[in-house]
Amino acid sequence: MCGIVGYIGKRDAYPILIKGLHRLEYRGYDSAGVALINPQQVLNVYKSQGKVSALEDTARSQDLTGSIGIAHTRWATHGIPNHTNAHPQVSQNGRIAIVHNGIIENYAELKANLLKQGVHFNSDTDTEVIAQQIAYIQEVEHLTMVEAVRRTLQQAVGSYAICVLDNAMPDTIVAARKGSPLVVGVGDDEYFLGSDASPIIEYTQRIIYLEDGEMVVLHKGQKPQISDLEGHERPYSIQHITMTVDDLEKGGYPHFMLKEICEQPQSLAACMRSRLVENEICLPEVDKDIDMWLNARRIIITACGTSLYAGMAGKYAIEELAHIPVETDYASEFRYRHPVIQKGDIVIAISQSGETADTLAAIDQAKQNGAKVVSICNVIGSSIPRASDSVIYTMVGPEIGVASTKAFTAQVTVLMMIAILLGYRKGVITESRYRSLVNELQALPQKASEIIKRENTIRDMAQAISFAPNVLYIGRGYNYPTALEGALKLKEISYIHAEGYPAAEMKHGPIALISQDMPVVAIATDSPIYDKLVSNIQEIRARQGHVMAIVTEGDKKVSQMADKTVCIPATAECLSPLLAIIPLQLLSYHVACLKGCNVDQPRNLAKSVTVE
Ligand code: M6R
Repeated sequence: MCGIVGYIGKRDAYPILIKGLHRLEYRGYDSAGVALINPQQVLNVYKSQGKVSALEDTARSQDLTGSIGIAHTRWATHGIPNHTNAHPQVSQNGRIAIVHNGIIENYAELKANLLKQGVHFNSDTDTEVIAQQIAYIQEVEHLTMVEAVRRTLQQAVGSYAICVLDNAMPDTIVAARKGSPLVVGVGDDEYFLGSDASPIIEYTQRIIYLEDGEMVVLHKGQKPQISDLEGHERPYSIQHITMTVDDLEKGGYPHFMLKEICEQPQSLAACMRSRLVENEICLPEVDKDIDMWLNARRIIITACGTSLYAGMAGKYAIEELAHIPVETDYASEFRYRHPVIQKGDIVIAISQSGETADTLAAIDQAKQNGAKVVSICNVIGSSIPRASDSVIYTMVGPEIGVASTKAFTAQVTVLMMIAILLGYRKGVITESRYRSLVNELQALPQKASEIIKRENTIRDMAQAISFAPNVLYIGRGYNYPTALEGALKLKEISYIHAEGYPAAEMKHGPIALISQDMPVVAIATDSPIYDKLVSNIQEIRARQGHVMAIVTEGDKKVSQMADKTVCIPATAECLSPLLAIIPLQLLSYHVACLKGCNVDQPRNLAKSVTVE
């Protein structure tokens, strides 16, 4: 939700800021802007509605000089996405420019006070209130920018990551965070700021992670000063990150989403690499607390969107293989519904970005109630792992397409490894079942690459679906979560209404919807309840429904009934969601392309949902 980038050093700031905004565009893309202080100490601000490329058009032929600047790409919360509401927001005295990610909840109250003092506002944003408040405090109380920012943030309620410029201090950027991410890149006599490391790694891999409630002062020629909002300085360590620029490029693919789908053979292998050692599952993050896991009374999995669907697949496996009761809950519900958490409960929080506001709040809630929180996360050093008691990283590298793909398969893989390991250690599954499941895990990357080769068949299926106004996805057992995830993939990038259903629930209502205009995607892979699903498909066919099916190689029954089928290689039932989802990801990708939709940046969405 909004991307922030900042630079202070010896180089021209503008090209660094623009490149950084392009890297962060996945976080929001309804308007963009940049503020620079030129060598004559003039604050130049350029903004534009729409994408970063529109900002570049606006800024072309303007004064773009200056080696200090801040920039922003927006996902609107307060105020419609137009030029006025775009960031940076500037104080009425023209001194302070600020970019902000988050929501200032008491902005109306702060604004009312400032209005009484005669401050005029231009925009509808909560961010302008912060810019005006900093400038007002500076003037009235004769404070430096650093002190005025500190005082303003002490009064602000809500979440923020901000970067602030003051044209009276042309060698300083002040930045702060609470509830929204912000990292500092440390170069040679230069510093970078980013909502994540992606706008920074081209220049340095040395990163400082700001903690919640901290401010950093970046001053040319001096070391960063990090302090809390009371002004207490803290020592910090610089961390080395391994992400490379190649991880952030499309690598010849037309879209990040397609790249990320197609790299799943490699990402699955990367996720399992250090965790399948000499044919054993090796999860030190679980082993270090093995008694806690083996004696768990209950596991609660909480997450949002795709990550929750991964958790649902995990529930099936942990209950079947390890006999531990598992509940799954939307983080946004969990945080407010007063869940009963008891001693011996483990909460697993799942998040690709590690920044999802509701998941973070759910972790807080769980910890306050005494639960141990283990997170499964992709972005190293992000807020969710840092708020958890321990973390298992999915290790699949940056996921940039807004539609989550390789993160989902990695999350499910980690959950399956946990379930298989616990099942074996608890003696619920036999040695030979354990060995066979480990072999199946090892075979997944190869099987995933066989599915990707079937892209043409899937494109053909996409043709048949692309004109439908609605699509139903059905599955049972382990592949009920796959149906939910397949439907989410379709709706979020192609804007076709889609719903996932447990197949047997059809006759309790949704079957009334079936007609020739409502295709059904059935996940009908091998399982002990395959024949039940065959009957469910018969019922749809009997009502003239068109069926597109995902089946296991060698399938006979469903293949004869369905209008179109895609085969996936056979695997253990609990691992089948990992393969069955791949054709569904490709299906939604090709439908979106056929419809001319913006695959990587679907309307109204952003990759990280850092606000409630
Ligand atoms: O970063 P997270 O995994 O916490 O994000 C959760 C959801 O916002 C995310 O999975 C969302 O549903 C995806 N865009 C779906 O493709």
